[in-house]
Amino acid sequence: MTQIEENKDLRALNTFGFKVKAKFFTTIHSKEELHELIHSDLYQREERLILGGGSNILFKRDYDGLVIKVDLKGITVVSQTEDSLLLQVASGEVWHELVLHCVNNNWGGIENLSLIPGLVGAAPIQNIGAYGTEIKNRITQVEAIDLKTGLTKLFTNEECCFGYRESVFKNALREKYFISSITLTLTKKNHRLNTSYGAIHETLSSMNIEQPTIKSISDAVIAIRQSKLPDPRVIGNAGSFFKNPSITVNHYQALQKTNTTIPSYPSANQEVKVPAGWLIEQCGWKGKKINHVGVHPKQALVLVNYGDGKGEDVFDLAVKIASSVKEKFNIELTPEVNIIE
Ligand code: EPU
Repeated sequence: MTQIEENKDLRALNTFGFKVKAKFFTTIHSKEELHELIHSDLYQREERLILGGGSNILFKRDYDGLVIKVDLKGITVVSQTEDSLLLQVASGEVWHELVLHCVNNNWGGIENLSLIPGLVGAAPIQNIGAYGTEIKNRITQVEAIDLKTGLTKLFTNEECCFGYRESVFKNALREKYFISSITLTLTKKNHRLNTSYGAIHETLSSMNIEQPTIKSISDAVIAIRQSKLPDPRVIGNAGSFFKNPSITVNHYQALQKTNTTIPSYPSANQEVKVPAGWLIEQCGWKGKKINHVGVHPKQALVLVNYGDGKGEDVFDLAVKIASSVKEKFNIELTPEVNIIE
């Protein structure tokens, strides 16, 4: 039987740590509970929001509807050969705990995604990525439940329409499905280690590691993240606030004339991706603090709540940052974080 709570405090359930409430709140532990909920009057009547780890969300104010917290658990080896395995993981598992589980079993493929906050179910929605890997490279299937009919649908990798921090679940099918599990293909031997990202390379060298393993890559990523990114348990934040923008090569070359150090990464469609953190830093925002919110001093792409800040304050700061980047570089920044009005 699904329990409904009223006026639920969400402070511990969003990593910005904003003091907001949900009019109604329930936790879903099984597909059966979700089916029951879907057929309830409250569900049919109220506006709804599915909440995973709360690590990529900004609540501007109290939520005037039903928050559905994902808590499905289970990690199952579906099949395996000598070289690889298919692993089905329920959406309520904690992402980093899954990574550690795989690293400890010597299953390769997601070690570069160590320490990303949040739950497994959110991974395909925004195609989580870091240090040269994206989850789209490992996902073979996503199981999701239609929030209208309660029917289960299996999405192939192609059907997920993955892009940079994008998928069909953020676009055409936004808020239409509840992700119940994902299936990953992982290697058991002959791992394809990815150490191409500069910072990984440097960290492995500083650790005197010449023959990296899955475990050493995971350790290196954890060390890099801990050195740059604030721990949400200490300082409220939701990781990168904006996506890294893509611009045309012409635009990039024009900017290079006056900004000789402007970094870039290759992007699709003959465009160039520019790190938003660099653009924000150039506009003088890095380390800025306005009342209880600010721009992190070690990574300008991360906006933080120092304790008593509000969603509105971070949102206003983000608007100011985006407009100064637009003015200085003629580049539009788009939030990566989900903003809940
Ligand atoms: N930079 C600055 N100033 C800053 C921050 C960055 O100049 O304050 C420049 C530096 O030149 C640096 C470059 O930006 O070399 C890239 O910085 P970093 O390696 O920290 O990566 P990022 O592009 O800022 C992206 C992801 C992160 C992911 C890292 C590592 C996005 C929006 N963010 O950040 O993902 O961990 O790469 O792969 O793509 C997240 O999505 O929440 C997230 C943390």
